[in-house]
Amino acid sequence: MKVEDIKQICVIGAGNMGHQIAVCGALAGYKVSCTDISQDMLNKAEAFANTYLPERVAKGKLRQEQVDKALANLSFTKNLEEAAGAADFVIEAAVEKIGIKRKLFADLDRITPPHAILATNSSFIVSSQVADATKRPDKVCNMHFFNPALVMKLVEVVQGAHTSVETAQVTMDLTAKLGKTGILLKKEIYGFLVNRILGALNSEALYLADMGIATTEEIDLAVTNALGHPMGPFRLMDFTGIDLAYYIGMERYQNTGDATDKPSPLLVEKFTKGEYGVKAKKGFYLYE
Ligand code: CAA
Repeated sequence: MKVEDIKQICVIGAGNMGHQIAVCGALAGYKVSCTDISQDMLNKAEAFANTYLPERVAKGKLRQEQVDKALANLSFTKNLEEAAGAADFVIEAAVEKIGIKRKLFADLDRITPPHAILATNSSFIVSSQVADATKRPDKVCNMHFFNPALVMKLVEVVQGAHTSVETAQVTMDLTAKLGKTGILLKKEIYGFLVNRILGALNSEALYLADMGIATTEEIDLAVTNALGHPMGPFRLMDFTGIDLAYYIGMERYQNTGDATDKPSPLLVEKFTKGEYGVKAKKGFYLYE
């Protein structure tokens, strides 16, 4: 398959990442069907597209015809068969639970046309952990976007030992068609590049807060003002989800067995209280 053969993209999951990946695809001219087990999430995703896209016209960033075309390209359905049945390329952005992802990949293998590439947007799960749930491991890879996906330019593509060269190339080519910069990793590594680097920053920030060396606000102030990051680590964890930071930490700890990889007491406290950040209206900061 070549990137030119991709006409229909299916995005699984209408959450933090999925709803914006779907809009990216529609803006790039692809028919995109977005699916989720929650009708509420689908309604929110559709409402986002219907608000965000016209706002881009009002801001002078897009033309009305581009928005009309993108909206016509987008569809939202709870029905997985309907969403994925004619897909040439699937981007799975469901919850970060391996059991759910394996079941989804097995279902997608059954539902999608045999030529379809099945990519996971997981933030840390390498695709070899889901590829063997399908009969087409050569067509399975990681395609990892960053939050907010409509803004952040990078996509990490990871070619596992099971992934064919063709699949990796088509995924890199699709990344470019979506207007993103791709980095191709030819070796699977937990957390890929960016989340490993970010994880190191977050662990140190959490350690300093846990030790009472500085408050979370002071650490954010230090990182934004001294390093020029647009958000400090605590504001960013609120934005991307404290639950996600916790799952990433737990997965890493389970992989390495290294006690220093264990999620920090402050992170565990926030996770246990359900203070997941922006989506829960409370995390390290409060949100209205
Ligand atoms: N969705 C879509 N677009 C958004 C947005 C959102 N949630 N938030 C901001 N934008 C857009 C705005 O429309 C605006 O676009 P234009 O300039 O083209 O008009 C632009 O971003 C700037 O917006 P603002 O001026 O309102 O806000 P800002 O300058 O404070 O930027 C931000 C907001 C882009 C989120 C910026 O704070 C930022 O880059 N933060 C860091 C984000 C980051 O590090 N992401 C990676 C996280 S790690 C990750 O994602 C890994 C993972 O696996 C989950």
